[in-house]
Amino acid sequence: MITSEEIRKEFLNFFEKRGHKIVESSSLIPEDDPSVLITTAGMQQFKKYFTREKDPIKDFGTQRTASIQKCFRTTDIEEVGDERHLTFFEMLGNFSFGPVGSDNPQDFSTSGYFKKSAIYWAYEFLKSLNLNIDYVSVFKGEDNIPFDEESFNIWKELNFSEEKIKKFGKEDNFWGPTGEEGPCGPTTEIYIDRIEVWNLVFNEYYKTKDGKLTKLKYPGVDTGMGFERLMKVLQKTETVFETDLFEPLRTRILEIVPNIEIRDLRIILDHIRGATFLIADGIYPSNLERGYVLRRILRRLMLKLNKYNLVKDIENFVKSVVEKFEQIYPNLRNYDKINKVIKKEFDGFHNILKKGLTMFEKYIKGNEEDREIGEKLFILFTSFGLPLDISKELLREKIGKEFTETMQETFDLLFENHRKISKSL
Ligand code: GLY
Repeated sequence: MITSEEIRKEFLNFFEKRGHKIVESSSLIPEDDPSVLITTAGMQQFKKYFTREKDPIKDFGTQRTASIQKCFRTTDIEEVGDERHLTFFEMLGNFSFGPVGSDNPQDFSTSGYFKKSAIYWAYEFLKSLNLNIDYVSVFKGEDNIPFDEESFNIWKELNFSEEKIKKFGKEDNFWGPTGEEGPCGPTTEIYIDRIEVWNLVFNEYYKTKDGKLTKLKYPGVDTGMGFERLMKVLQKTETVFETDLFEPLRTRILEIVPNIEIRDLRIILDHIRGATFLIADGIYPSNLERGYVLRRILRRLMLKLNKYNLVKDIENFVKSVVEKFEQIYPNLRNYDKINKVIKKEFDGFHNILKKGLTMFEKYIKGNEEDREIGEKLFILFTSFGLPLDISKELLREKIGKEFTETMQETFDLLFENHRKISKSL
């Protein structure tokens, strides 16, 4: 079975041969995209090359780069536990910053390229891995941005029948910008086993803060392929969590708790990786911005570890992540620091969690109306410091209820009143 280590090499070699400079992943703290809290895409470290504020020839000797980028998406925190959502993931990408040379897939030079080379190379790379594309999608045209006929025709040239080239609007096939402004454009997306595996973005536009689109001087290419998803289709696992990217951590947890609930296992796998990488890149738990993101996942992690008496094993688990990734990300070797940060956060949260768990069980019966549950969760929060994230998990775990909009509305209303009163005192 092909390993993720082999795929890393194959991907980067494939694009290096085609004139791309291999660039290391940037930090999860974005440097060239200050309007964004955390790095969410491979293109972020290259934003200024797309806009020509920086010169790719000067920095890379070519208009083409490729990378495997560490990413973290905070929008997904609450979804983690299902089959596919992740907070931390890696993204394989190739990029072109223009000016466009021949846009010929046989052209292995260093000039900029566009749709034809990008699509042909994605197709060839997947074929070299013996993967069959189910179908692809292209931008159908919307809001005065035209239908991407060029991509449509390129896929036809590659023998895709028209029903295998789906046409979608902005919601699905227009990407970016990250943050408040930046490069963006129509996409063509590649599906394997009904999963969107690779997103090819054609950065033709720049979106300004006031929402206007202007044309970029040179059109660029920005592709992103989810590494975990790619490994899932290659290793033919049931979900991303059984791929080797979650080993040896997954095996170690299962050795200790063979009957762990699948949802809990996924949350633990995701959050340990996420926390380890965030801390290695210099983020500390706090109540602000990225620090708060880290705090949320550490607390949720502690809740789950506590359920299986695994809090004491955290060092070992962090070590398993480090073992897997330290060759690629040497800053993980600093795992004494990573462990210290986690331990300190766990120690600080220990009493709140203990008390909160007792009070939750005492207080919430499960037969209340949603509004009443919202009120009770608010009291647990204000009187005992039990975070809402934790209460949401407990609702599911202890009484088999999902957190609803009514609960959220009640909680928010009480919170707002509470804030007003505290302010006026
Ligand atoms: N920048 C392309 C993506 O994140 O899908």
